[in-house]
Amino acid sequence: MTKNDFIVTPWSVKGDIDYDKLVKQFGTKKLDEKLLKELKSITGGTHHYLRRKIFYSHMYLDEVLKDYRKDNKFYLYTGRAPSGPVHLGHMIPWIFTKWLQDNFDAHLLFQIPDEEKFLFKKDLTLEETRKWAYDNILDIIAVGFDPKKTHIFLDTEYAGHMYKHAVQVAKKINFSTIKSTFGFDNDKNIGEIFYTAMQSVPAILPSVLEGKKTRVLIPCAIDQDVHFRLTRDVAESLGYYKPATILCRFLPGLQGMSGEGKMSSSVESTAIYTTDDAKTVKNKILKYAFSGGRDTLEEHRKHGGNPEVDVSYQWLTFFEEDDAKLEKIYKDYKSGKLLSGELKMILVDKLNSFLAEHQKRRKEAEKIIEKFMLRD
Ligand code: TRP
Repeated sequence: MTKNDFIVTPWSVKGDIDYDKLVKQFGTKKLDEKLLKELKSITGGTHHYLRRKIFYSHMYLDEVLKDYRKDNKFYLYTGRAPSGPVHLGHMIPWIFTKWLQDNFDAHLLFQIPDEEKFLFKKDLTLEETRKWAYDNILDIIAVGFDPKKTHIFLDTEYAGHMYKHAVQVAKKINFSTIKSTFGFDNDKNIGEIFYTAMQSVPAILPSVLEGKKTRVLIPCAIDQDVHFRLTRDVAESLGYYKPATILCRFLPGLQGMSGEGKMSSSVESTAIYTTDDAKTVKNKILKYAFSGGRDTLEEHRKHGGNPEVDVSYQWLTFFEEDDAKLEKIYKDYKSGKLLSGELKMILVDKLNSFLAEHQKRRKEAEKIIEKFMLRD
């Protein structure tokens, strides 16, 4: 892989991602000013992920909003394939999903495909993915979703409701389409080939649950749109709307955008887990967070740092909501007034207060988990 190469699939992300190119590659749309204005006009507010183009692409969001204007409500749908602990990168789409739920008073289907990583990874058993499912659900609930409007399910526990829809989808997608869409070769197991049918189901379930054609908006990281492109190809012929998506970038891994492009649950030095304590967070940031600072204090004061490549600054664009504060940090770092170590400590404090809150709610989630679960 040369310096400018990158690969983004639902199962692998590598290299220095060019997000503009990715939109072209995937054939999705940019979130333009007109749509952002419409979102603002409906919600009466804005989210820093939108202002900073962290959520930056979509498919059919315009249709969803147009219908919403006519009093047709939509469902939200997102998911998480369990294979390990939740890290901060996973939380980004969920935090935004909660904002959407609050502002549109929408029901949310939260899929936990506990078979996905079992099928795609050699060494995981279904017992292990199930254990991680119930661990990860605590993080999901801790985001603060409305228990009356949020429905979480494991595929292996809700398959009775899902299967007949999955086969409807599956019958309309042939092997060569799956091969070319996902780049699969012949040694893929047949579970992997079928999987996208299961991920399609919650995009059509709301119409079944509501007893009428109902739109679905899926907030997720951009790598997942590929699945829903296939769902879109078949949805209308089955009598449903094409699912809409609103798509985000990845939170970069601690060591920066090249190499391991996003955080990885399995690579300790790239990720901060939601259960890390304050000291661990501090140590990881100080030790691993890629710095855009200069080699010597003297040079840094003279020439300033580079916030574009500095992971601590990049993370603050995700976690510091206050635009004015963020801008001051940007300017001070660029001018050399703010040092790398100081910037890192701003991030450490920010993350630790975020995590202290999250961990409190995560503990409380243990008591209310059953309010959220759907089972056969
Ligand atoms: N495939 C996703 C993952 O690897 C899990 C998932 C299932 C999902 N349904 C989804 C993600 C809908 C986003 C939206 O984690």
